[in-house]
Amino acid sequence: MDTAKALVADDKGLLAMDESDPTCNKRFAKLGIPQTVETRRAYRELIVTTPGLGESISGAILYDETIRQKKKDSTPFLKVLTDAGIIPGIKVDTGAKDLAAHPGEKITEGLDGLRDRLAEYFQMGARFAKWRAVIAVGDGLPSRSGLEANAHALARYATLCQEAGLVPIVEPEVLMDGDHTLEQCRAATEEVLRNVFIQLNCQRVLLEGMILKPNLVLPGLTCSQQASVDEVTDATVNCLLRTVPAAVPGIAFLSGGQSAELASARLNAMNVRFKSRLPWALAFSFARAIQQPTLEIWQGKEANVKAAQQALIHRARCNRAARRGEYTAAMER
Ligand code: G3H
Repeated sequence: MDTAKALVADDKGLLAMDESDPTCNKRFAKLGIPQTVETRRAYRELIVTTPGLGESISGAILYDETIRQKKKDSTPFLKVLTDAGIIPGIKVDTGAKDLAAHPGEKITEGLDGLRDRLAEYFQMGARFAKWRAVIAVGDGLPSRSGLEANAHALARYATLCQEAGLVPIVEPEVLMDGDHTLEQCRAATEEVLRNVFIQLNCQRVLLEGMILKPNLVLPGLTCSQQASVDEVTDATVNCLLRTVPAAVPGIAFLSGGQSAELASARLNAMNVRFKSRLPWALAFSFARAIQQPTLEIWQGKEANVKAAQQALIHRARCNRAARRGEYTAAMER
């Protein structure tokens, strides 16, 4: 419970730097950055050594490769993070695979052997974990059985985390891909969250000791009718009020492919308009919306490290300001 509270305290948020090797390589490839263990390590060193990161970031989500890595001078990343006041976390699912007999739907795997992996990560110094379920919206999707399978896996993972002394970040992501409307996303997200909390209760998860990491309620990327910031924030907050128990200390949104500026603007609007009426903190747990500008500046080149770190700290500060309802477009100039 203390760790869960600390992860959303002081208007800070989470930095997701837990891209699996294939995902990290895909992002590197787009920018012509070599896809090697060393470039991935160098990039993560750039992130964890960014001066002042702990002023806006409460926790960093690592990946199995990253949690074992060190700076060039041999200091473990885990030590660099804890010295900066950042709580280390770890992604523990092993990825979303096709769900048998459910075309277009995925199930996240990783429960086999999870108890032993969690014990090892705790012993290494991790204090929270993350598991992502992905839910597609479309014709007849998500199916009830797809929803239930993913919610069940999230709940099994969450209880195992709490048994190991780790705060589970429970991430059911309704994807932005597709031409579905805002209303379809709202209906799907509401159904997903309802199922997730039913399963969390069934599996005896302590709600005070977890963080929810949901998507914003948004129209699909190719939907002809896009939504205003106010429409998105209304739909998102109303959906969460209907589904997330007040005992949960914090909701830390994923960015899901939104631009960095839009993710900050939407988080800001939710806090400006609703903060005083909400039982939980509304925070962030962004990967792309914090890292993308940094990666584009870095380009794999040592000479660009300082500028890339400045971009990272800028996004972290913008999102902390958004938690306070103090983010403005002028901050981007
Ligand atoms: O699981 C996904 C990440 O933790 C969040 O990534 O902010 O790029 O959606 P994103």
